[in-house]
Amino acid sequence: MPERTAARITAFGDADVVQLVDEEVRAPRGTEVVVRVTHASVGSTDVLARRGGYVFHPFPGFVPGYDFVGVLETESAVSSVLGLRAGARVAGVLPGMGAHATRLVIPASLLAPVPDGLDSAVAATAPLDLVTASHALRLAEVDAGGSILVQGVTGPVGSYAAQLATREGLTVFGSASTRSREAAEALGVTFVDYTDPLWAARVKNATDGGADAAIDHTGSPEVLTALSPRGTWVHTAFVGRRGHERGDSLRGSLTAAAHRFGAQRQRVCSVPGLVATRRNDYRRDLTALLGMLAAGELTAPAVDAVPFERIRDAHRAADRAQRGRKVVVTMPEGPRTVVDPARRVWERTLPPTHAAGK
Ligand SMILES: NC(=O)c1ccc[n+]([C@@H]2O[C@H](COP(=O)([O-])OP(=O)(O)OC[C@H]3O[C@@H](n4cnc5c(N)ncnc54)[C@H](OP(=O)(O)O)[C@@H]3O)[C@@H](O)[C@H]2O)c1
Repeated sequence: MPERTAARITAFGDADVVQLVDEEVRAPRGTEVVVRVTHASVGSTDVLARRGGYVFHPFPGFVPGYDFVGVLETESAVSSVLGLRAGARVAGVLPGMGAHATRLVIPASLLAPVPDGLDSAVAATAPLDLVTASHALRLAEVDAGGSILVQGVTGPVGSYAAQLATREGLTVFGSASTRSREAAEALGVTFVDYTDPLWAARVKNATDGGADAAIDHTGSPEVLTALSPRGTWVHTAFVGRRGHERGDSLRGSLTAAAHRFGAQRQRVCSVPGLVATRRNDYRRDLTALLGMLAAGELTAPAVDAVPFERIRDAHRAADRAQRGRKVVVTMPEGPRTVVDPARRVWERTLPPTHAAGK
């Protein structure tokens, strides 16, 4: 059986809890395919999950990482329909994490082609964050000429959301701290200092009664002040109190769901949910968005590349989340495997070359 190396969270805590583990890879079933991962991002959700604050991973033992870029190693009926042949560069989002591994066995329907000319490390910054930004903007339902507040505008999700909203002809108010002011203004948005106690009232005044929508990861009730009386509040996260993140996130989601049909509507933007329930929409989005990135219509965060063998350093870098930057782990070549499609027999053709160091 072929092997892979995965970065498992063995206990909740700081970066030292991440362990590189050699594992067997099962043979693909049905429409599944094998992807050799070449790049995977390490973002704020991975950090939250590692610390034990992520609602979808309440127990340790899992492999974090929502998105990846890699090379298709095997084909299935679905990959053929999608025009993806063995050797193709592909990208995707996993609905339940698990991308921090050298090899994945996953449904082919999760995959989008990476356009020629788009660097794999740059492409790896995009699947989760760019689809999140795009999905949140769609949920915001603001027509051209309208206004939107983007919270955390210099983070990867906020920066992509601001760029997409600007392209759609919206006036964007982007919140960040004063240290991020320059980066926010470089995005062409009106800077909002979230440390100013009057920030929400200032947005309300500047928009003549409130913004038409907000894309927000804080869950702060002040967002309601910044919104117009008929505005839409799109939640990408609910940053909870330290040590209470899971409960706060659950409460925030339930409250938002209860206000789905209020005058000021609330929407929860969940890309894992989108991937799990509306696979074709997700894949269409990802394919189109990677195309925009390749065409230079969107600017990705700068890549901080870290070898997978130093996954703990990658987590440490993600802990310090630098505005305008994204951590991407680069995978070793590792063992190559082939599947004989007729006999479904695995053969290892190269020995492992990775060092399962810490
Ligand atoms: N729903 C989904 O499917 C999905 C997918 C991906 C990510 N997410 C979530 O989306 C959020 C953003 O992700 P990211 O990776 O872009 O985050 P990030 O790197 O953590 O950036 C967040 C930004 O928020 C700003 N910020 C901090 N405190 C704030 C406050 N009180 N009010 C407004 N802004 C504040 C920071 O600005 P300064 O640096 O200037 O302080 C920072 O630039 C995260 O909570 C993440 O978990 C959700």
